[in-house]
Amino acid sequence: MNLYDRIPNNVNLSEDKKLQRALEKWLPNYLDWWREMGPEGFQEKDVWLRTAVDVGSEGWAHFDYVKMPDYRWGIFLEPPQPDAKVGFGDNYGRPAYQEVPGEFRNALRRIIVTQGDTEPASVEQQRQLGKTCPSLYDLRNLFQVNVEEGRHLWAMVYLLHGYFGRDGRDEADELLERRSGNPDKPRILEAFNQPCDDWLNFFAFTMFTDRDGKYQLSALAESGFEPLARTCQFMLTEEAHHMFVGDTGLGRVCRRTAQLMKEGDVRELGGIPLEIIQKYINFWFSYSLDLFGGEISSNSADFFAAGLKGRYKEREQYTDHLATNENFTMTVVADGQLKTREVPLRNALNEVLRGEYVKDCEKGLARWNKVLADEGVSERLYLPNPRFHRHVGEYAGHTFDLEGHLISKEEFERRKSEWLPTMEDREYVRSLMHPVYEVGKIANWIAPPAAGIKGKPFAFEYVRL
Ligand SMILES: [Fe+2]
Ligand SMILES: [Fe+2]
Repeated sequence: MNLYDRIPNNVNLSEDKKLQRALEKWLPNYLDWWREMGPEGFQEKDVWLRTAVDVGSEGWAHFDYVKMPDYRWGIFLEPPQPDAKVGFGDNYGRPAYQEVPGEFRNALRRIIVTQGDTEPASVEQQRQLGKTCPSLYDLRNLFQVNVEEGRHLWAMVYLLHGYFGRDGRDEADELLERRSGNPDKPRILEAFNQPCDDWLNFFAFTMFTDRDGKYQLSALAESGFEPLARTCQFMLTEEAHHMFVGDTGLGRVCRRTAQLMKEGDVRELGGIPLEIIQKYINFWFSYSLDLFGGEISSNSADFFAAGLKGRYKEREQYTDHLATNENFTMTVVADGQLKTREVPLRNALNEVLRGEYVKDCEKGLARWNKVLADEGVSERLYLPNPRFHRHVGEYAGHTFDLEGHLISKEEFERRKSEWLPTMEDREYVRSLMHPVYEVGKIANWIAPPAAGIKGKPFAFEYVRL
């Protein structure tokens, strides 16, 4: 591990002078982007952050006060496996690719750019949130997520510079030029152009949208293109914290809401009513489902065939790594009705991955509902049907209710204010967002966490203001 190089890395960067020079040229542009688009108003503050110091499963993280622009962003890959093999698809069992297979060069670059684009996008979406944090603990978690998304950008830029030559360098530059929500140069995926300007949005985003990241990275961590697999394997260890922030954040909002429900009117008491929490779940869950791509996809089949993108836990969970003989039963819209259709499994792999994701999200819902039950409240939260409010794939262009019944556009328009956050809901949530910067204090609309970070109490100066 070369921790004290200008670019910390465990890939022996100093032995590849050309790559090192290219990345060192990109570094100041990255820092300019960070200063311009990173968390506003906190760049010079000491934040108690963890930094990657090793990629081993034990003790890879070091905790200390760091000013965010001094964070040790770097390039960390899981160590190579001796005789790594392609784990699935038509080249199953052949040696893993150390270079990009020529015919998949463009497609693979697209995957890496699309993943890479989400990383700075989320930092941009979240850059104002520090001004309304519910506690110093939450403020620190936000910044931890932000610096790690910055590192994920580094991970993807390393692959672009290292394996895609000139085009890769151009793409790396463009990753710093697009801006979330900017109509002239938007980020690539729609969920990453949606504003994330209050903490309920932030928790729902890290719960649902970062979790899409987990599943995309998991599928790429199986890749037969070894540098990509090793990069994604390490990113997943960081991603777990982001989902923890979202999952426990929403759980704490639920706890506080339930407590206030027992005292009286949640709104009058300054809490977030459950129906607003439900609408935020509906919004972010549906947008995050879109990120998996079309239900029936020849791209997914090609990528699997080529051994580039596998299924979730491909090696661990499956015995048939060819997936050539099976069909998948899909619900589609045909002649204005829901019908089932048999699709070759390889063409249904986006949907298979989405199914894994939905199962994982359901566990989160079960945890929040347990919080509600423990607080003695009978209402429950739920996930909408995956057909609800979709903008990509089989169900885009049709309208469904929360249970997934096909309904008319008029009915959807008439009822959408019951299902998705309205302007008033968003304004109400924003009206609650006042910063709490005192050590050990917390905003009224959220419960404190069960424990602090890395053995520190909740009442700890996680950010020195
Ligand atoms: Fe990320
Ligand atoms: Fe993330």
